[in-house]
Amino acid sequence: MLKSSKGIIYILICVLLIISLSGVSYYGYKTFYIEKEIAEPSEYKHHIVLIAEEIDNEYWRLVEEGAKKAAAENDIYLEYVGPLKADNDQLLKLFDRMISVKVDGIIIQGVEGAEFSELVFKGTERHIPIITIDTDVKDSVRKAYVGTDNFYAGQLVGEAMIKNTVGKQFVGIVTGRYDSINQQERMAGFEEAIKLVERIQIVGSQESNITQIGAAQATYTLLKEHPSITALVGLSALDGLGIVEGLNEIAPFKDVYITAFDVLPRTLSLIRNGEIDVTIAQYPKEMGYEAMKLMMKLQKQDILDNEVYTRTQIVEKQDVDRLRQGEFN
Ligand code: BGC
Repeated sequence: MLKSSKGIIYILICVLLIISLSGVSYYGYKTFYIEKEIAEPSEYKHHIVLIAEEIDNEYWRLVEEGAKKAAAENDIYLEYVGPLKADNDQLLKLFDRMISVKVDGIIIQGVEGAEFSELVFKGTERHIPIITIDTDVKDSVRKAYVGTDNFYAGQLVGEAMIKNTVGKQFVGIVTGRYDSINQQERMAGFEEAIKLVERIQIVGSQESNITQIGAAQATYTLLKEHPSITALVGLSALDGLGIVEGLNEIAPFKDVYITAFDVLPRTLSLIRNGEIDVTIAQYPKEMGYEAMKLMMKLQKQDILDNEVYTRTQIVEKQDVDRLRQGEFN
């Protein structure tokens, strides 16, 4: 009797143990196993990497979308990476790491300085084709550039300002980052366009660090230092939004002519309601898509056409509806 009750207790303990062990392993699996939606790179023909200036920036997400579309159509594994906050050192480290793991191709924003060109050289020596996107570094050995002609885009800012304003204009510039080549080129294009127009003068510039809040702060500083400002120009995608935010906070009734960059949905809304006068459209999805297509060609042979300029245009209130109907997708 004693023996059989001991046996029952023993069996019960075993059953409980089995139940709890299977519970732990089931829930443990659910908690720690991250399901991979994308199959392993080894299942694909090619593994291509796209390196963004800042991973979660709305503009770069559009570049990613375009590149992903081309990747899906062609059975390519696309890895999208980038620093959490714009930072050249981190971007260069990522670039170096991707060269070391010998991916099949790298699409990357061009960065100022010798280190970038040296890495392009290192990658090319290891037979990894490299394409610059959004920003070019012409004197590197990159196979091609895909993106806006940034000097021309800057000229468009100037042309629109000449056309849309009358009388003296004192211009404040909000630039993404001083050490970004595309910002320098846009600025040079703008200066070139207004150089013979005496009534338009640049009075100061500030960096936004490519964030909306940074652009709002830059606007605040510019207006404090130069109360004469009559026009503000944002040179990167979130600057126009930050300029409007900054102005609404500190000088809501001041009449300022505003130029933004890019056609993010929020920028288009501000154009529609008259808070932004003009924006310069770029086509980031097209950049991503075209860069991937070129990268596929490069997997087989070298290419001749190594400068692919995507479209750029001035967008004003009367254009917004056309854009909403899909012109920009
Ligand atoms: C530029 C990108 C930049 C982005 C920042 C765009 O206008 O072309 O280089 O990363 O703005 O928001």
